[in-house]
Amino acid sequence: MSTTPRDALRSWFLGPRAENAELLERLVTEALRDHVFWRRNYHPEDGFNIRELDKRTEGYEEAVATLTQELMGLLAELKSDVPFFSGRYKGHMAYQQTIASQVGYFAAMLYNPNNVSIEAAPVTTRLELEVARQLSRMVGYDPAASWGHLTSGGTVANFEALWMARNVLYLPVAVVGAAEELGVTLEVDRPGPGGRARLADLGLYDLLNVTSGAGLDLWQAVWQAAPARDVSEALSRHTLGTAGYQDYGRRLSAQFGDPLDDSVVLVAATAHYSWEKIVRALGIGSNQLVFVPVDPYYRLDPDALWEQLVALHRRRAPVLACVSVCGTTEESAVDRLDLVLAVRARAERELGITFQVHSDACYGGYAASVTWRKDGTRRTAAEIRATTGETWPSDDWVQSILALGGADSVTIDPHKMGYIPYPAGAILLKDRRARELVATDPPYLAPAGGTAGAGDEYLGRFIFEGSKPGAAAAAVWLSHKVLPLDERGYGYLIERTVIGARRLFRAMEGADFSPFRVVLLPEPDINIVCYVVHHPSLTSLEEINRFNERIYQAMSLGRPGDAPEYIITRTRFEAPMYDGAVDPLLEALGMTPAVWRTAGTGGLVVLRSTVMDPFLCDPPPAPDHIAGFISALRRVCDTALATRGRRRDDP
Ligand SMILES: Cc1ncc(COP(=O)(O)O)c(C=O)c1O
Repeated sequence: MSTTPRDALRSWFLGPRAENAELLERLVTEALRDHVFWRRNYHPEDGFNIRELDKRTEGYEEAVATLTQELMGLLAELKSDVPFFSGRYKGHMAYQQTIASQVGYFAAMLYNPNNVSIEAAPVTTRLELEVARQLSRMVGYDPAASWGHLTSGGTVANFEALWMARNVLYLPVAVVGAAEELGVTLEVDRPGPGGRARLADLGLYDLLNVTSGAGLDLWQAVWQAAPARDVSEALSRHTLGTAGYQDYGRRLSAQFGDPLDDSVVLVAATAHYSWEKIVRALGIGSNQLVFVPVDPYYRLDPDALWEQLVALHRRRAPVLACVSVCGTTEESAVDRLDLVLAVRARAERELGITFQVHSDACYGGYAASVTWRKDGTRRTAAEIRATTGETWPSDDWVQSILALGGADSVTIDPHKMGYIPYPAGAILLKDRRARELVATDPPYLAPAGGTAGAGDEYLGRFIFEGSKPGAAAAAVWLSHKVLPLDERGYGYLIERTVIGARRLFRAMEGADFSPFRVVLLPEPDINIVCYVVHHPSLTSLEEINRFNERIYQAMSLGRPGDAPEYIITRTRFEAPMYDGAVDPLLEALGMTPAVWRTAGTGGLVVLRSTVMDPFLCDPPPAPDHIAGFISALRRVCDTALATRGRRRDDP
């Protein structure tokens, strides 16, 4: 590729003013025409079902008129949709999609492949596996040892990650039972000082503290030790998936005489709310979801993690997984995953316990592309700083990104910072063997000879979803072709958004909002700027919250007819999740943590501006949406203050 990414960026999107309309139209037309030729040339001897004379009938014309009319209605309705494409939109993690992904989606949609199986999607299943390999390489996995696939989004990707992690956790227990039935003796490496031991000699707590790699080695060993059919049946009799939680718990305490505490899932306090859904859906239970405090930069606090592990070990509660976040939903904070992995290594060494580490990189995962040179080697933090001209990224940030390769699983959403149309999430497993622990054979999709041992292409066997759009895979694939996952493509795109976010941050920091004060959270790790607006007349947390809620309402599209100048969003920081992290913010607002902690569900309302717009940092004559936003915010503050108390729910 000889072009500079600076020039190429201008061709990547339809554009805020549809500047690339001709390009998109040409490519969509190309895709449509090509599809038409395909149909026409497929068994041309078949003749026609719809003849030209049919098109001249009244019924036909009436049906076409209805279609056209209704489409016009739909198009009119869509004008009330959200202008994600505009530099004025700084709300949720959404922007325009790349032209490549739109055209790729449209082209494949005409074929409507179903990526549940190669039989229903011979082309796009291959593309899906290819993009999973590209993403795996980007996070630092060995593409030969890892495996991944696309999902409908982050929630399902995270669900699958925990589903697999749960089955990996209980795998040694299942293997003990199966090995005993099969008369097979197996040995396993235990973490830390435990050393190698006979599997049958281990107690329940030790079995639940086998590393994922050692557990999967056991699984392989048992398959090699006896005929496949016997192993399959014996394992199945002892797995959690077959028995279900209620029966499994009863069985284990009878078998081992050891009523252990329930296993827990540790999640960063900033974790997306979907984790609560997931532990409920998997039967783990939200009581077992334990929040790990975050530091004032909204990153998981590794010292707090260590303390929690020590306490859990004391009551012998196994840890199913620790979920760290790369790009938190609210702040775009990037956890120090390198330090989380170091805590795990310490727990193995000093406590003899282990757990799986998952990185929820649904939002921030694509930022890993920033660290790759075009020749496939890594860029240093200093090298990246030289191109951004910012203090970003810090050396620590790059270390956190490099650590992704050490997580057992990573989820990344192409439909977030991949700028791909919905639905497109992705799950990546460091050790491809883990997928076998959730394999279910679909009878009607089986290749001749059965699916046992069948290749990747029978995706339905290893995934939670069934039918799924091959068009999404084509969209991601084409976009990755045009914007490579390195400094030339996504890396450049994301760098631009970070530069934009930092300029917005500094402009807000330096702007004169008096008599208002804009209290900013720390500079973001990626591209979400968060803040709370204060005014001397606001003397309680409740008043501050109401005031900020009014600003949000004036700068959002909640009701029909709303036409804000700029669009932002807001969240609520609640205790105990944000304990510790919000202290500096509260202090700057003249509030105490005690007041905030007793605020109940009121929490603290925080305004957010997500910058996915790579053009925000463009020099003149490009529109200045930083200055524009600041003056609009200023006006909204004035109005919110002047009109407060006019409604019953105002302060
Ligand atoms: C960090 C993180 N994880 C998971 C999700 C869930 O993703 P989805 O909405 O695609 O299900 C989100 C969504 O915002 C997120 O930010």
